[in-house]
Amino acid sequence: MLLHGFAATTQQLNAAVEMISAAAPFRHLKTPGGRPMSATMTSCGRCGWYSDSQGYRYERLDPANGRAWPAMPSTFAALAHGASMAAGFGPFEPDTCLINRYAPSAQMGAHRDADERDFSQPIVSVTLGTPATFLWYGAARRGSPVKIRLLPGDVLVWGGAARKGYHAVQKPEGGVRINLTFRKAL
Ligand code: SIN
Ligand code: FE2
Repeated sequence: MLLHGFAATTQQLNAAVEMISAAAPFRHLKTPGGRPMSATMTSCGRCGWYSDSQGYRYERLDPANGRAWPAMPSTFAALAHGASMAAGFGPFEPDTCLINRYAPSAQMGAHRDADERDFSQPIVSVTLGTPATFLWYGAARRGSPVKIRLLPGDVLVWGGAARKGYHAVQKPEGGVRINLTFRKAL
C-alpha cells in the first residue's frame, strides 16, 4: 500500500539520518559473490542488515567498528508503527531500520526481503530526497512489474501474502535518494 506523503516530517528524518551515518557511516556492502552493491547502506536499531562473503544476515554489532548500531530514533519507530496501522497491518515494532543511500547512478535489482525471522510483520519503506521508481514484481521475479513513482515523504507498506514479494528500485531522478526500510528481523 502506498501512503502518499505519510512522512510529513522529512526534515527531522533527514537530520536523524545525518546523526546515524555520522556514527555508522554509509558503506558499499558486497554480495556473497563479492560484487559491491551500488547503493551504500547503514542501519540503526537492535541489529543491522549486513552482507559479505558469509552471506546476507543481521548483525547486532556493526562489523565495521565492533560497536552497537545507533539506537533507532523514536521518530523512526513512531513513523513505522503509524504507517503499519494506516495500511491495515496492525501494531508494528521494528527492531531495525536499514538506510539505503542511492547516488544518481545507484539502483537495486529485484530481490525479496527474506533474512528476517518473523514474516508475520510487514515491511515499511520510506523515501527521502530524490524521487525514484519502485518496481513491484510480486510472487515471481519475472513478468512486467507494477511501477510506483516514490516521492520524498511517501511510505510504502507491504505484508501478509505480499510480505515476500519481489521488488526493485530504479536509479533516482538525478539526485541522491535515501530509503528507510523498517523490519522486525530478530
Ligand atoms: C530495498 O528494497 O531494500 C530498498 C527499497 C527502496 O529503496 O525503496
Ligand atoms: Fe527490499
